[in-house]
Amino acid sequence: MRISIFVVAAAIAITSTSAMAGDPNPANIAKTVCAGCHGPEGISTNPLWPNLAGQKEQYLSKAINDYRSGARKDPVMGPLAQGLSDRDIEDLAAYYSNK
Ligand code: HEC
Repeated sequence: MRISIFVVAAAIAITSTSAMAGDPNPANIAKTVCAGCHGPEGISTNPLWPNLAGQKEQYLSKAINDYRSGARKDPVMGPLAQGLSDRDIEDLAAYYSNK
């Protein structure tokens, strides 16, 4: 229950972040949305949530694209990925792979 409320809040946060076209800093999305589960530096604190820090950039962008397209299904990441643009995904993948 707490998680689903968080996801709604996260989805709203993504929508409003994406609305600011041309945001040059993917760290904003990472800090406001993704950090809640994946940790501020991409190291998760919950055993069920994966670490993203240092992961391969292409793997991360493929994973997020797959959640967005539905090729990879997850009740949490699916809806979250829906709110991301192609640019957001590229930026987030670069951000976490460089952590
Ligand atoms: C509510 C918690 C939550 C939030 C917020 C969240 N994630 Fe996730 N994320 C998960 C969970 C749980 C998984 C594992 C899902 C699965 O088994 O496929 C996951 C998986 C992933 C994966 C795949 C990792 C791998 O090793 O295959 C990526 C990439 C990812 N998340 C990126 C993000 C990004 C980028 C954001 C911010 C836009 C984000 N997540 C926000 C919970 C969350």
